[in-house]
Amino acid sequence: MTVEAITFKGQPQAARPIEVPISIAPMMDRTDRHYRYFMRQVTQHTLLYTEMVTAQAILHGDRDHLLGFTAAERPLVLQVGGDDPALLAASARAAADFGYDAINLNVGCPSDRVRSGNFGACLMAQPDRVADAVATMMAASPLPVSVKHRIGIDDLDRYDDMVRFVSTVAQTGCRHFTVHARKAWLQGLSPKDNRTVPPLRYPEVHRLKRDFPHLWIEINGGFTRLGQVTEQLNRVDAVMIGRAAYDQPYLFADVDLRFFGAAGGPGLKSWSQVRSRPQIVKAMLPYIDHWVGQGTKLNKLTRHMLMLFAGQPGSRQWKQILTAASGQPGAGVEVVQQALAAVLRQGEIQAQLAVEAQPLGVGGEGFRDPGKGVDVFVGAGEGG
Ligand SMILES: Cc1cc2nc3c(=O)[nH]c(=O)nc-3n(C[C@H](O)[C@H](O)[C@H](O)COP(=O)(O)O)c2cc1C
Repeated sequence: MTVEAITFKGQPQAARPIEVPISIAPMMDRTDRHYRYFMRQVTQHTLLYTEMVTAQAILHGDRDHLLGFTAAERPLVLQVGGDDPALLAASARAAADFGYDAINLNVGCPSDRVRSGNFGACLMAQPDRVADAVATMMAASPLPVSVKHRIGIDDLDRYDDMVRFVSTVAQTGCRHFTVHARKAWLQGLSPKDNRTVPPLRYPEVHRLKRDFPHLWIEINGGFTRLGQVTEQLNRVDAVMIGRAAYDQPYLFADVDLRFFGAAGGPGLKSWSQVRSRPQIVKAMLPYIDHWVGQGTKLNKLTRHMLMLFAGQPGSRQWKQILTAASGQPGAGVEVVQQALAAVLRQGEIQAQLAVEAQPLGVGGEGFRDPGKGVDVFVGAGEGG
C-alpha cells in the first residue's frame, strides 16, 4: 500500500485567505499530524491547526519532525508560541518554507511553563509586544498571521481591555483573531481548570465583531454541536472547536456538506453522501501501513481514532481491540482491520436484533429502528 506525498514541503506561497468558517483548535498532545490526517478523512475543508510549537524549538529542534505534514492535511495553520520577534519571524519563514497556509500566535495558553517563558496568555497584558511580534512575522513571510487569545486574564478582564489588545494588534494589519471566550486565571488555576472554570462569555466576542466588522472574528470555547456553529455564524465569522472534535470526531462528518456545500471525502461522487465511519477507517489503512512501515508504533496512530465509533454499536470492541493490540511489538494494519470487523459484526448483530424485535405484521421492507438499525453506519452521527 502507498500513500502519496507523505511529507509535504511546499514552496513559499502567496498569502491567501484562511477565512474558513469552522476549524479544529490547536491542542497539545492531540492535534499532531496523525490526528490531522485522520480528521481529513472526516472533513476535507475544516481548517486544521498544529499543536503549539515554540519558536525556540523551531529554531533549535528537528524541523522535519516538528513541522512535517502530509499535503492532504491542508488547509493547515502552524501555531507558534513565543514572545521574541526575531524568533517568531524565523518561525514564520519556516512555516512558509514547509508550505503551511497560515501561522497563528498563541496568546491564550495559561500554563506555568509557558508563562515563565513570557508567552501564551500572559502576553494579553502586553499588547504592544504582541503587535511587534505580529508585525515582524508578517514582514518575514507571505503567510497570513492570526492571533488566538482569551477574553482577558486575571483582573485585566473587562471588555475594554480586550478591545485595547485587539485594536493594538490589528494596527499591524493582522485581521484574524480567534477568541477563547473565557478569561484565564494565571494564578491558582491549572490549564485544565482554565478551560472549564471561568465562565464562557460569548456576548463579548459577538460585541467585538460588531465593533470591529472589518476583522475576521472566530469564537471558541464549549461548542459541541454543529447547530451551535450555525447559530454562532450569524454573529461572528468562524467557530473553532477543540475538545468535542477530539472526543467525537464524527461530529465533523457533516461539516463539508453543511458549511461548504461539498461532499465529505475524496472519491465521493454525490453531495448528498457523507463518509461512513468504516469508510473513514478504510481510508486510513494505507496511511497507517506507511507509518508503521517507517517504525511508528501503531498506537501513536490509532490513539486518535478510538472515539470514532462513540455511541455506536461496537464502540467498546473497537476501543478494546485497538487499545490492547496496538501497543504490541509488530502490531500493524491488521489490528485495525480486525477491530473494524468486530464493529461491523456488532452492527449486524444489533441490526438483526432490531429486525427480530419488529412486531408481527409490520416487518418487511423499510422498517428500521432508528436507534439500533443498520443505519448506524451511514450519515453523520451528530444531528446538531
Ligand atoms: C488537551 C488540550 C491541549 C490544548 N493545547 C492548546 C495549544 O497547544 N494551543 C492553544 O492555543 N490552545 C490549546 N488548547 C485550548 C484549545 O485550543 C481551546 O481553546 C479550548 O479547548 C477551548 O475550546 P473547546 O471548548 O472547543 O475545547 C488545548 C486544549 C486542550 C483540551
